Amino acid sequence: MLTTRYLSEARFVASRIVTALQDCKRNPAFREFVITEHAEHVILFAVLDELRLGEPVNLYLTDEVLHQISTLTHGKRVAISNHNGARYAVLLTTPPSLPKSAAFPDKLERDVFPLGIGRRGALHQPAGRLLNILVGGASRSGKSNFELGLAYTALQNGYSLYLADPQEITFSSAWNNLCAAPVASSKADFLKLLEAVQQEMTRRGDLFKNVTRLGGLPVQKIEEYNQVVPQPLPRAFLIVDEANTYMDQRGVPEAIADIARQALKYGIHLVMAAHSWRAQDVPRALSASFATRVSFRVNDDTSASVVLDSNDWGKKAMRLALPGRGILRLDGGSPQIFQSFHLPEERLAGLLASGKLVYTSPLSDDERRLVLRALADTSGRMTQDDLVSWGLAPRQARRLAETWEIKGWLVQDPNRKNARYVTPALRQIVESAV
Ligand SMILES: Nc1ncnc2c1ncn2[C@@H]1O[C@H](COP(=O)(O)OP(=O)(O)OP(=O)(O)O)[C@@H](O)[C@H]1O
Ligand SMILES: [Mg+2]
Repeated sequence: MLTTRYLSEARFVASRIVTALQDCKRNPAFREFVITEHAEHVILFAVLDELRLGEPVNLYLTDEVLHQISTLTHGKRVAISNHNGARYAVLLTTPPSLPKSAAFPDKLERDVFPLGIGRRGALHQPAGRLLNILVGGASRSGKSNFELGLAYTALQNGYSLYLADPQEITFSSAWNNLCAAPVASSKADFLKLLEAVQQEMTRRGDLFKNVTRLGGLPVQKIEEYNQVVPQPLPRAFLIVDEANTYMDQRGVPEAIADIARQALKYGIHLVMAAHSWRAQDVPRALSASFATRVSFRVNDDTSASVVLDSNDWGKKAMRLALPGRGILRLDGGSPQIFQSFHLPEERLAGLLASGKLVYTSPLSDDERRLVLRALADTSGRMTQDDLVSWGLAPRQARRLAETWEIKGWLVQDPNRKNARYVTPALRQIVESAV
């Protein structure tokens, strides 16, 4: 148990709470001291005996008292709770500190976005759970670096990019040939960019109408579509830097709202970064689709409170100091402090200089090896027995054969039960992979 390691610390803190109350001319009457463990933290609760205080309990819950407890315990974090009896809560564990900077990982896992380092380790979020992303932070706080990390990861996964930056600093025209549409800078360009995204939504919607899921059900989202087609649709990211610049333009808030609401099902994610956000910029109805929230250092708490959807955390964002140090909220979870990965300019420069889209095959390396093996050893035949002899478990072999047949990657031999063959479509995917 973690708590036993903290017993002597707990005794020390309990005695300092008593002294702190005496210093503040209060009566140190306690009902009990309780030490508990919660989410890797050890907390000491000092429960006041309200009947024996002889004065209003409010006098015990002032900033002055809390401050004195914190001072006497060498800066430990102290909170009060007045539900179910007044008590002080003192955090005995010191949360592990964060690195001052963290290099962007060299190796990326497929469809996973490396965001940074949190107190419990690296923070990597699968694309499907990022949903839309809202980023806030004062000047030079680390917004652009964060957006560049997203854009870089998107490209490495073969996703499409739509970029806007009024200043052409984060995203300059050097990005043009990596993007699905030219980088937008002026307000007029931005409207065109939004139109391009809306057209892509329509195109994807039409593609969805042409296929059905198993059992004839309509396809409603990208994950379902990609399960049944030979060539999956890549996800796409629309990243808007300095988004405030565009929001006052006629038609923009409506188009953004439409995209935020509709585009995720087509695998199109919206990332909006700005130095200040007001509550009306993120209407309640849209709030849920912005599942990923990041605030870097801010100069006033309004914007960070909107971004993080929490006044307390909004205030904390004012105390962040280092560039790239931020508060992150993932998927409706609680906010946490983190250090975002730093993407060195050389890596980006290399990508921009190469000027070509990174092609990623819809196959994993293991899957690709299986296809190459079938082409080399069995003239393209892939029975379940073949797959098992190549190392797959029987259940894996059956699933792979069935799903690949639906995608049109394998075709059944009408004369032999369970004998499937690699189709030209699959052969082409394997041969065009880099
Ligand atoms: N995660 C990070 N780790 C280390 N340094 C960082 C990190 N993020 C940003 N920086 C550094 O901080 C500086 C400002 O970063 P950045 O340009 O991303 O800020 P910004 O919020 O976009 O600023 P602005 O509002 O001026 O556009 C840069 O020198 C950058 O290299
Ligand atoms: Mg910037």
